[in-house]
Amino acid sequence: MDLSVRLVVLASGRGSNFAAIASAIQSGKIPKATLAGLVVNNPKAEALEHAKKLGVRPSIVDSSRFKVAGKLDREAYEKELLKTLSSIKPDLVCLAGYMLILGPGLLGAYQGKILNIHPSLLPAFKGLRAQRQAIEAGAKETGATVHFVTQALDDGPIVKQNRLDILPGDTEKTLSERLLPVEHQTYVEALVALTSRPYRIEGRLVVWG
Ligand code: GRF
Repeated sequence: MDLSVRLVVLASGRGSNFAAIASAIQSGKIPKATLAGLVVNNPKAEALEHAKKLGVRPSIVDSSRFKVAGKLDREAYEKELLKTLSSIKPDLVCLAGYMLILGPGLLGAYQGKILNIHPSLLPAFKGLRAQRQAIEAGAKETGATVHFVTQALDDGPIVKQNRLDILPGDTEKTLSERLLPVEHQTYVEALVALTSRPYRIEGRLVVWG
């Protein structure tokens, strides 16, 4: 019987978090996980290049095909995405630079099974350009957070966080560059914990053991 936890990664762009997760699985750093697939909503996503190099079979559910008068028909798109996901049968869905907000249908189908990485120490600096928000707020530290996804943006139960000093003179670019390896490490640590330790979600909390 295969007891390993099946992960699928959803990405839209660069795909460095996907590559970090895939490499960690392939090198045995997340021993209880299997990478069951990569799904992208953008056929030009760089994540596809990583998938090719790492020998991971990608699925493309092109969200631009579901635009009506320039606006995404979320229900139709997510119906298609759900079909793809149900053929992959993931135990955990890892959002990694996935730029679309998930609707209630998908969230309901995978409740308590969808993770996201955010480039700040949540609950600080939710939303877009979190690194820039941290600099503009004069924060002395920031970090990366892996959390379960709920309907409210960047608000779900926190699985793992790692911190990083903001240095004098840091710009959005330099901070984002230094934060990226912290994000990768945080995602891998979160997945190691979730696949090796018992846990339950109680309200806003992930309770271990
Ligand atoms: C990362 O900074 C992640 O925290 C944010 O989007 C970016 C995606 O980067 N949600 P990549 O595509 O994984 O390289």
